[in-house]
Amino acid sequence: MNYPAKWRKWGLVEVKHEPVLLEEVLEGLSVRPGGIYVDGTVGLGGHSEALLRASSPDGFLFGFEWDEASLRRAAKRLSAFAGRFRLFRANFAEAPEILKREGVEADGILLDLGLSSFLLEGSGRGFSFLREEPLDMRMDTRLRMKASDLVNRLSYPQLVELLKTYGEEPRAAKIARAIVEARKKKRIETSAELARLIERTVRPRKRGEHPATLTFQALRIAVNRELENLEKFLAEAPDLLKPGGRLAIISFHSLEDRLVKKAFREDSRLRVLTKKPIRPSEDEIKRNPRARSARLRVAERCAP
Ligand SMILES: C[S@@+](CC[C@H](N)C(=O)[O-])C[C@H]1O[C@@H](n2cnc3c(N)ncnc32)[C@H](O)[C@@H]1O
Repeated sequence: MNYPAKWRKWGLVEVKHEPVLLEEVLEGLSVRPGGIYVDGTVGLGGHSEALLRASSPDGFLFGFEWDEASLRRAAKRLSAFAGRFRLFRANFAEAPEILKREGVEADGILLDLGLSSFLLEGSGRGFSFLREEPLDMRMDTRLRMKASDLVNRLSYPQLVELLKTYGEEPRAAKIARAIVEARKKKRIETSAELARLIERTVRPRKRGEHPATLTFQALRIAVNRELENLEKFLAEAPDLLKPGGRLAIISFHSLEDRLVKKAFREDSRLRVLTKKPIRPSEDEIKRNPRARSARLRVAERCAP
């Protein structure tokens, strides 16, 4: 349903987000009472809450989330654990630096990448091709570039490159051509306008997938510099871990998963604990279809 944007701002529309692979994350991170944990993608606080509960009575959590509205909701949700957590409105790529300054050494670090149900359905920022919303796609509204800037300003070759690099979209040239033609008549301003244009241009690649899926993925990754942030984090996070501390990362598409797999394999500070990524059970996918493409990889910090 399309709610008025101000309802969302006032918190009148509550969107639930079920944390993905929850048991597997707690087990992978080997959460214990008194441990120190970092959640780099707090979202609505589902995993954070579980980490605090499993590390009761005295575990501590440092949480990072760059979307202000999500962070506000998470803080409310975690209020029962007051004194046992600190939340930062910051990019997780900055987390290693911030926490090193604080002298933190962690027992476990989690990233649950991608979109929350709140961003997708409740933020009003054009993440979903099913909604008529401004084509924004910034997870952090302090970022300067919106998806509409890319769609309306990039040249044809730049659009092709973006769709290929961040969407692995085989029909990149056709879609880029349609965008360039359409914007000669009128700027493309909303998510639904872009989705309709792509629907008219190409067919779905497979049953059940919207033809604009990869274009929306590409724009979102570019706007939020998702791969750059993940790469920076992967290079620095192992130094935040105590020997034996664990790093767990849930990714939702192969571009992210490839980076995680490669970094875990090639990093001499880490020992890989998941030869194959852990996938959600059939039951979880039935309960929470958003979990369908989730892949969890876990690594352990080696002794120096
Ligand atoms: C899949 S959701 C996390 C959901 C959360 N685990 C829960 O159970 O509620 C991913 C969250 O990470 C946030 N995020 C993505 N990239 C980020 C970054 N570079 N820095 C900080 N937060 C980020 C998004 O804003 C989103 O709220």
